[in-house]
Amino acid sequence: MQDWADQIAKGDVRALARAATVIENRSPQAAELLRELAPHAGRAIVAGITGPPGAGKSTLVDALARAIRNRGKTVGILAVDPTSRVSGGAILGDRIRMQAHHGDSGVFIRSMATRGSVGGLARATADLALLLDASGKDYVLIETVGVGQDEVEIAGVADLTVLVLVPGMGDDVQAIKAGIMEIADIFVINKADRPGAEQVEREIQGVLSLGHRPDGWVPPIVRTVATEATGVEDLLQALDDYAKRGGTTKSQIPNHKSAFSIDHLGIAVKSIEAALGFYEGQLGMQVASRETVAHEKVTVAMLPADGPRIELLEPTDPDSVVGRFLAKRGEGLHHVALRVPDLGSVIERLRAAGARLLAEPQIGAGGHRYVFVHPASTGGVLLELIEDQSR
Ligand code: CO
Repeated sequence: MQDWADQIAKGDVRALARAATVIENRSPQAAELLRELAPHAGRAIVAGITGPPGAGKSTLVDALARAIRNRGKTVGILAVDPTSRVSGGAILGDRIRMQAHHGDSGVFIRSMATRGSVGGLARATADLALLLDASGKDYVLIETVGVGQDEVEIAGVADLTVLVLVPGMGDDVQAIKAGIMEIADIFVINKADRPGAEQVEREIQGVLSLGHRPDGWVPPIVRTVATEATGVEDLLQALDDYAKRGGTTKSQIPNHKSAFSIDHLGIAVKSIEAALGFYEGQLGMQVASRETVAHEKVTVAMLPADGPRIELLEPTDPDSVVGRFLAKRGEGLHHVALRVPDLGSVIERLRAAGARLLAEPQIGAGGHRYVFVHPASTGGVLLELIEDQSR
């Protein structure tokens, strides 16, 4: 295993390709190999390239790869498609793209489609990015299809996110604003020779003018025509500038973001109305959704926050989980909800280890899949595990 990792770190292309397959297939050796590789990683600039279908991302990524090679640097490309469960198309795409960089060992390309959950895909992407980083690639470009929550998660693997937009998107820019605009570190207006480029740039400026980022970075807007390689040098410069700001890249802290996140804190109350007197009336938070979950005999009010949300729980029947909790313990923190990738395999692991699950996985408020773990297993707090799945 040590030898294998060393071969990869020295740039052995065959060792790298074999490792990519092992990692993608989640073979048993993958975890050990990744541990061996981790110390070699942390030098690459890992960039997520995302944007709506038809924005020309693949062409842009190829042009960027060529610009990187022209500078004598090396690049790994991960093309990730969370919307596809078929790998065949991805493989065909690989072949076509490989031909463009034929015989060039300084370019490594892999395509991935969803296998199981998006959480699993994000994990595989993170692991492959680590592999490419450890193999000495100067840049790792992660290209995702579409713009949505899945892409935000996959983009989270990267040090920086490039959002590719095109003229003539109209209302799409509005839709994108809601989500991924906030995480974009660099904006690209591709196909900038088309009418409407000014308009898109104004829209982006509008979003950027709404606030400053805590890190002081002002996301640049780069115009490109990827098919003619126009503006691609500027984009590469923007990647370097971002990576150099403060002298470090995020990937110099080896490994990647945790795949777990706290989704919400559940608070049991006798009356949501009464509790909202505080949360809405006095504190100024706002309820985003209310729902009655019949099988849990509970009414739920969700209050979004920057980070985990607050979930107020009011029983519709004293003879219910929350009803009994109130009778026994009174109002208070009822559970902590953790978002996990690939809930199915987490449950398997917990069962095998003897953790106490309260019931089979259920569908809850907002349509998410969840399961509760008994406080006896978790250090005294009821733990809700939520599947981090495509929405
Ligand atoms: Co909950």
